[in-house]
Amino acid sequence: MVKRGSSYYVPTVAQSEPIRDPRLFIHNLVKRDPLAGFAEDVRRGLSARPKRFLPKYFYDELGSQLFEAICLLPEYYLTRAENEILKRYSDQIAGYLDGQITLVEMGSGSASKTRLIIEALLRRQQELLFIPVDISATALESSSRILLQSYPRLKIEAYAADYFAGLAELEKKPRGRTLALFLGSNISNFDRDEALRFLHALRKMLHTGDALLLGVDLKKDRAVLEAAYNDTLGVTSAFNLNVLARINRELGGTFDLRKFRHRAFYNEAAGRIEIYIESLFKQNVRIDKLDLEVEFAAGELIHTENSYKYDLTGIAQLAASTGFELSHTWTDSQKRFSSNLLLAN
Ligand code: TRP
Repeated sequence: MVKRGSSYYVPTVAQSEPIRDPRLFIHNLVKRDPLAGFAEDVRRGLSARPKRFLPKYFYDELGSQLFEAICLLPEYYLTRAENEILKRYSDQIAGYLDGQITLVEMGSGSASKTRLIIEALLRRQQELLFIPVDISATALESSSRILLQSYPRLKIEAYAADYFAGLAELEKKPRGRTLALFLGSNISNFDRDEALRFLHALRKMLHTGDALLLGVDLKKDRAVLEAAYNDTLGVTSAFNLNVLARINRELGGTFDLRKFRHRAFYNEAAGRIEIYIESLFKQNVRIDKLDLEVEFAAGELIHTENSYKYDLTGIAQLAASTGFELSHTWTDSQKRFSSNLLLAN
């Protein structure tokens, strides 16, 4: 019997329950065997002379968040400078392409700068398909949900994958006119050969008339560069040493983080910031899951990343040797950072 005037209690869905969103699809190419790659690469890196780790392993859940914190540091001018450029010129940038555009981003992370491009595209077209590729599935998922909440006319098809696996997958999919983004200082973590290989692979995924917006940090005064990678709060140090903590967590490592320290300096001849973890003492470290015992000398360096800085000639050369035409370069008001539009020809 239905009582007139009574109200019905509608139980609310528990907040933690994942809500299926028809506008979101995430392909997880990392999930297949997350440990195998990491374990093997750590073994290889610690057996190499000099020892080294691959940059992509910075970005576990904690590492991705620490990187977001780096982007907020007063010394890390790169993010703010790029934001300034995108704020001012996003409409101009979008204007270089015609027709209905699909947006692809390699290494999207939190995708906060991407919003400026998304907004410019949504001013020109009714709907937008955004295809982010990122090594961190958690960063992808949370950034995607936030974007979808902000933009009702957006759809997202995301790939949790490393760059080359992601590009190989994208190449198979038919796509309309595409604007690809490679922002921040992502390109700078490749050495020259890798940068060329990456841009070739990206060019192969694109069609004539598509474009790439490439963020590139510029060569400048050593003091400014070195401060950006040696912040006074110690966030960059935490980000760098987190690789050791990750080995402890995931591979049963016994690194004592107090016995290592972060090092970063500008190698001007090579045009790059070099980033290392230094062993403060002679010491041995065990990694249980690898059944590996590693010896460190006092002062020994593990190389974790390079960050190459470019000048405009260098950027033009990159473009010209990978099937792109550099059509425009925008810089921030202090000329610290550049956004470059490369047309696929
Ligand atoms: N791509 C960033 C850059 O080169 C990554 C980065 C910033 C980084 N700070 C770092 C990598 C410190 C390792 C250590 O600017």
